[in-house]
Amino acid sequence: MNTIDPRHRRPQRIAVLAGDGIGRDVTAEAVKVLAAAGERWALPLELVALPWSAEHYLATGETLPPGGIATLRDEYAAVLVGAFGDPRVPDMRHAAEILLGARFGLDLYINFRPCRLYDARLCPLKGKRERDVDFVIFRENTEGAYVGLGGNFKKGMPDEVAVQEEVHTRKGVERIVRAAFDWARAHGRRRLCMADKSNVMRFGHGLWQRVFAAVREEYPEIEASHMFVDALAMQLVRAPERFDVIVTDNMFGDILSDIGAALQGGLGVAASANLHPGRTSLFEPVHGSAPKYAGTGLANPVAAILSVALMLETLGHETAARVVEGAVVQSLRKGRTTPDLGGTLTTSEVGDWLARRVAAAPVS
Ligand code: NAD
Ligand code: IPM
Ligand code: MN
Repeated sequence: MNTIDPRHRRPQRIAVLAGDGIGRDVTAEAVKVLAAAGERWALPLELVALPWSAEHYLATGETLPPGGIATLRDEYAAVLVGAFGDPRVPDMRHAAEILLGARFGLDLYINFRPCRLYDARLCPLKGKRERDVDFVIFRENTEGAYVGLGGNFKKGMPDEVAVQEEVHTRKGVERIVRAAFDWARAHGRRRLCMADKSNVMRFGHGLWQRVFAAVREEYPEIEASHMFVDALAMQLVRAPERFDVIVTDNMFGDILSDIGAALQGGLGVAASANLHPGRTSLFEPVHGSAPKYAGTGLANPVAAILSVALMLETLGHETAARVVEGAVVQSLRKGRTTPDLGGTLTTSEVGDWLARRVAAAPVS
């Protein structure tokens, strides 16, 4: 059991898992920006690259070494991840063992996925301004459909049966709901919406209903509401300004965060933090490894770089975090972007531009 808050160790060691495909391209730029911030504010950061990836798995047969997750827990303050996914590993075994392994093994129950429109021109919706898209998804990150419980019976036969179970626990639901309310309270957000499918999933999401009803009583100043997730998906693209904080289960959070990404300019912009307060945390872009873009210079590194900003904030380097985020906002507004956002820069040109801005920022 990890009893020391890893953020308080000096130096703060950061494991860098670039992973596969464009994960490698964007992580190289995220590291550039992180290194620039580290130098600018003399931060006690020590970056350690770990090879865990499809390439490593194919070469060695090992997804991660024995005790790998415990090493992250005990020796690192944070983990920076690019993305996993390689057509040569069709069952995604390495991603399951490394990424889901870290989420579950480190008990990172909060998948914090902010969705913010930094420049109105990036929004695909008609007439939306920056302030209309500014919400956070609290995605439960250790339960639900992701637990991998189930099996196949008569596999490959015409009457094959597949069972995939969901798991929802009172403890698991309560802590993510509470985390969302606490964050809303701490950040002056007034509205919180819980999304489920309790009209169909009577047992699992019935539990979500009952827990939500109890916890909301403790936060009378926050306007708490509930929507079925299908209706919420529709409202997100119709009227995103209605949302401040959304809390939902693992699978729905995955899907809604890609919708959120589209509202803010695409997957190239969407960042995330996998958190368990007081423990080693993991930061990654919402996007995947987009294998066909790997090495082309087309991958947008901004989602990875905004994930670095979330990491800096979590590690207590608030000023550096704000400067990194501010530099990204400037790059978007000035059109210094990759082609997915209408610009002409390559992945590394965006990273260089942002690293230069960070390096030249006033220290406080
Ligand atoms: P993806 O996110 O990799 O890509 C979908 C599309 O989004 C791309 O074709 C591209 O058009 C765009 N896109 C994504 N990231 C971009 C970026 N940084 N810059 C510019 N455009 C970007 O999703 P996919 O194609 O469904 O999945 C590819 C692989 O990644 C799969 O193996 C999948 O399982 C995996 N995946 C991994 C993660 C993760 O590691 N966290 C997340 C999602 C998907
Ligand atoms: C994400 C991804 C992952 C998920 C996959 C790669 C396991 O889509 O982080 O959003 O489903 O959680
Ligand atoms: Mn996803």
